[in-house]
Amino acid sequence: MKYDIGFLGGGQLARMSIMAAQRMGLRCLSLDPGHDAPASQVAAAVVGKLDDPEAIANLASQCDTLTWDSEFIPVAAVREGLRQSGMDPSLVTPSLETLETVQDKFLQRQAYANAGVPGPRFFEIKKISDLPQFGLPVVAKARFGGYDGKGTRTVRDESDIAEVAAFAEAEPWMAEEFVPFRRELAVMVCRSPRETLCFPTMETVQADHVCDLVFPADTDATAVAVAAVEALGGYGLFGVELFELADGSFMVNEAAPRPHNSGHYSLDWGGPSQFEQHVRLVVGLPLAPIVGRETCMANLLGQPGAVEWRDGLRAATLALPGAHVHWYGKAEAKPGRKMGHINVAGPGCVEKAIAARKAFYAAWTRS
Ligand SMILES: Nc1ncnc2c1ncn2[C@@H]1O[C@H](COP(=O)(O)OP(=O)(O)OP(=O)(O)O)[C@@H](O)[C@H]1O
Ligand SMILES: [Mg+2]
Repeated sequence: MKYDIGFLGGGQLARMSIMAAQRMGLRCLSLDPGHDAPASQVAAAVVGKLDDPEAIANLASQCDTLTWDSEFIPVAAVREGLRQSGMDPSLVTPSLETLETVQDKFLQRQAYANAGVPGPRFFEIKKISDLPQFGLPVVAKARFGGYDGKGTRTVRDESDIAEVAAFAEAEPWMAEEFVPFRRELAVMVCRSPRETLCFPTMETVQADHVCDLVFPADTDATAVAVAAVEALGGYGLFGVELFELADGSFMVNEAAPRPHNSGHYSLDWGGPSQFEQHVRLVVGLPLAPIVGRETCMANLLGQPGAVEWRDGLRAATLALPGAHVHWYGKAEAKPGRKMGHINVAGPGCVEKAIAARKAFYAAWTRS
């Protein structure tokens, strides 16, 4: 008997999706180079490289459908793996074509511009003298492989240009107009050929380029988020990151073709989680109606001097009954790395989540 879903990558997004799939009676298998990956702790896994067509073929030959844990997996390797295994590419959600567009920030921006989805002006950079096309500041971005702000630089003056020139020589890159946004927002969009549903618009607060806090925004950016996913020809679950401007209008920053940090709150909001919807989209089940309570998520990042995470867990849940701690089981707690998160639902959830995280960090770093 085949597994219902194969995950390309075994990180925390695969882990939480697998846990949702298991509650729906589905069987999952993941592929990851690590022997002790977050996903391999909760379900069957194969060890192999994500750019190795043979490893991908091994996964695909054991599964009815496939999906992505990360958008950085080389599509050419997946195409070859599917060919070797005989799996029909239409069984991969989101599609290989959509992933190819999303992987390249320049192609992604072009797709939005062609569809009239609002976004900053942007241009391809071939040499550093191309840069100040709109005047400064501009935001320089590596076209491929950026995450958590790695590969993104704001260029404000001549001294920043020299720094960017160094990183720009190494890889293809682009630049876009600096958006003086009021807030950053995110919308999880669920889209199948039959229906489109959105989770509520959330405000996302970044600290040091890493998502820090997520809570409901008192505005509705779902129409622009859906337009972005349509512009990508996307089917499946997408996390659409947006900027809110001073006049209350929206611009799209980027979309992630997978569960997204801004949707983790939905594990504890009393309605369907983003992971459940993701699973439904991958196996072709109808979506669950989206309703739930106001909930805040605070990320738990690796801290210098961290010792035993269970001490943090106990401290957070004792400090605040109703704080739900999710731990990803990563082998190493490097400072700044996403290790887990805390969800708190109901009135006052933002202050409560911050307090619970403070208690977690204090106990975790106590030697
Ligand atoms: N055009 C822009 N104008 C102003 N700020 C921007 C712009 N583009 C990006 N930023 C800021 O830089 C952050 C990171 O940019 P982006 O989302 O493109 O990079 P990433 O590293 O791929 O994303 P992530 O942090 O979501 O993994 C954004 O969340 C935003 O704060
Ligand atoms: Mg981003």
